[in-house]
Amino acid sequence: MNNQRIITKSKVLVTGGAGFIGSNLCEALLEQDNKVVCLDNFMTGHRKNITPFLSNKNFTLIEGDIRNYDDCKKAVAGCEYVLHQAALGSVPRSIKDPMLSTDVNVGGFVKMLFAAKEAKVKRFVYAASSSTYGDHPDLPKVEEIIGNPLSPYAITKYTDELYAKNFSYIYGIQTVGLRYFNVFGRRQDPNGAYAAVIPKFVITLMMHESPTINGDGTYSRDFTYIDNVIQANQLAAITIKEKLYKSDTKHEVFNIAFGERTNLNELVEILKENLSLFDAKIKDVQVKHGPNREGDIPHSLASIEKAKKRISYNPKFSVKDGLKEACGWYWRNLK
Ligand SMILES: NC(=O)c1ccc[n+]([C@@H]2O[C@H](COP(=O)([O-])OP(=O)(O)OC[C@H]3O[C@@H](n4cnc5c(N)ncnc54)[C@H](O)[C@@H]3O)[C@@H](O)[C@H]2O)c1
Repeated sequence: MNNQRIITKSKVLVTGGAGFIGSNLCEALLEQDNKVVCLDNFMTGHRKNITPFLSNKNFTLIEGDIRNYDDCKKAVAGCEYVLHQAALGSVPRSIKDPMLSTDVNVGGFVKMLFAAKEAKVKRFVYAASSSTYGDHPDLPKVEEIIGNPLSPYAITKYTDELYAKNFSYIYGIQTVGLRYFNVFGRRQDPNGAYAAVIPKFVITLMMHESPTINGDGTYSRDFTYIDNVIQANQLAAITIKEKLYKSDTKHEVFNIAFGERTNLNELVEILKENLSLFDAKIKDVQVKHGPNREGDIPHSLASIEKAKKRISYNPKFSVKDGLKEACGWYWRNLK
């Protein structure tokens, strides 16, 4: 990647920097000669994700909470860009405890956004979500057409978009929402009740146990490898204003995905194929099927045309390439 497509020699705040996506962003930014501030309360993130960065003089950890305005102010001081990832992910978690998800994902979001505006950052890039498309049946998803949200989580993520757009309008802060579609890759947490499907299946297969597919396995997702997401965050932060924003609103949302659909049956087969290169027995593991999950949409596929056109997004990793990388990483790190 040439320098016009990456953030370099800047001070960047990554909220949720000890999480899956955040720690990957911190790592890339440090490699590119930036100063990185990580704000995290370790609610779902892990210290081990950032341990290698702690000895780097360009890395600052602020253990704090986005629901605490003083923590937000302290973290953003002197930063040029904010890559806001901190939130409570997971649809089922938000169904179980909608108050907590709303508190963090909306209350914390507004505090972080306001602190960023007060600190006069150049741009506030935030993790939005494909869940915002809700029950709208059209495929592929285009940014302008959304349906009814199907979970409290989806509502929180859409509310964030409304706040960002409104703050851009009333305060003039430049904001960009990246609607991620099922991101996967190194350091994504395989453990816990709310683990994402890919790491959960990988670890189950590694133990020769049967992964449980919710439903008949025909539900599909636009699985997106982490390196594509790292690229998108940087482009969203540095693309010049005139190209990025169409009108005076100074707010935009983009789908960030690969633009290809893989169903869950196919996903398991690809994972088995990759993992059986390390352990041949994995090829024979059978899958189980359970009931469909509440709040799940049947299919998800992004149009990435807008991101390609406006921020020159050019995802390098296909689902297959990304899964190969991810399986190798889990094998080396978790076996
Ligand atoms: N992973 C995906 O497929 C996906 C898809 C769509 C959107 N997103 C969004 O991307 C972002 C990052 O997701 P992820 O998969 O890396 O999740 P993650 O759980 O690994 O990372 C989130 C991080 O935020 C931190 N955090 C949570 N609440 C906090 C608080 N109150 N104050 C400070 N830090 C807090 C956690 O400790 C964690 O380190 C989230 O906003 C998520 O909603 C993720």
